[in-house]
Amino acid sequence: MWCQPACSLFLTRSLKLVWASLQRQRFHTAGSRYKSRTGAEHLWLTRHLRDPFVKAAKVESYRCRSAFKLLEMNERHQILRPGLRVLDCGAAPGAWSQVAVQRVNAAGTDPSAPVGFVLGVDLLHIFPLEGATFLCPADVTDPRTFRKIQELLPGGRADVILSDMAPNATGIRSLDHDRLISLCLSLLDMVPEVLHPRGTFLCKTWAGSQSHRLRKRLTEEFQNIRTVKPEASRKESSEVYLLATQYRGKPGGL
Ligand SMILES: C[S@@+](CC[C@H](N)C(=O)[O-])C[C@H]1O[C@@H](n2cnc3c(N)ncnc32)[C@H](O)[C@@H]1O
Ligand SMILES: *[C@@H]1O[C@H](CO)[C@@H](O)[C@H](O)[C@H]1NC(C)=O
Repeated sequence: MWCQPACSLFLTRSLKLVWASLQRQRFHTAGSRYKSRTGAEHLWLTRHLRDPFVKAAKVESYRCRSAFKLLEMNERHQILRPGLRVLDCGAAPGAWSQVAVQRVNAAGTDPSAPVGFVLGVDLLHIFPLEGATFLCPADVTDPRTFRKIQELLPGGRADVILSDMAPNATGIRSLDHDRLISLCLSLLDMVPEVLHPRGTFLCKTWAGSQSHRLRKRLTEEFQNIRTVKPEASRKESSEVYLLATQYRGKPGGL
């Protein structure tokens, strides 16, 4: 399996839908099949079918609907442009990397624009993508991963660090929140060695009591911090992104 939970739901549920519709055509028992679903499943299904971003992801052949969150944030805040080097943390199944490859011209599709670079890292396997380099399975917080990241990035540095990383949710909000904030903070530890001065850092968080710790660190290290909630991020989720720009640079370095 090469997909993380939310996106694998996106795929496996889509496959189940196709399967269910085939069954319906064969047996004409649509009503009873749908009635046999649990309430929660039905709700998910209805929402999934209505979700314009799910529909668009299929049409545009992105690997996951999360692509639209990055497209939207990029549209609004000009995070990516041709020639930039991008480190995509928690990249599986690779939708953000698809967007990044297009926007930084990593596959050299536009011969008149500078060619960028995209490095995706994940605990899970990521299916190959033209124009991207994947380091997987690898834990971003592992020092060995950190050294490999430095080796793989041209010049050892990224201009943009993206993180859509998320730990497997336990369902206990405060615990999940704490774990995600810790993950973001440990990613920030690598910033001085990996991010180019004036670079950008974008990370996913779940709102909660520890968010101020992350904001405080970002404020110390970047000139500009914004909280971003893309339209494509489901309203009922506590998901918010922090966008930090103009990295001040390693103290005493570069
Ligand atoms: C929401 S998904 C990312 C979706 C991706 N942005 C896309 O558009 O395809 C979160 C990912 O973070 C990964 N992840 C969580 N903790 C990680 C860690 N310590 N190191 C690397 N990846 C991690 C998970 O394996 C999961 O695939
Ligand atoms: C989440 O669970 C899956 C399956 O158990 C595992 O492969 C993956 O590494 C886990 N991800 C995280 C972030 O712990």
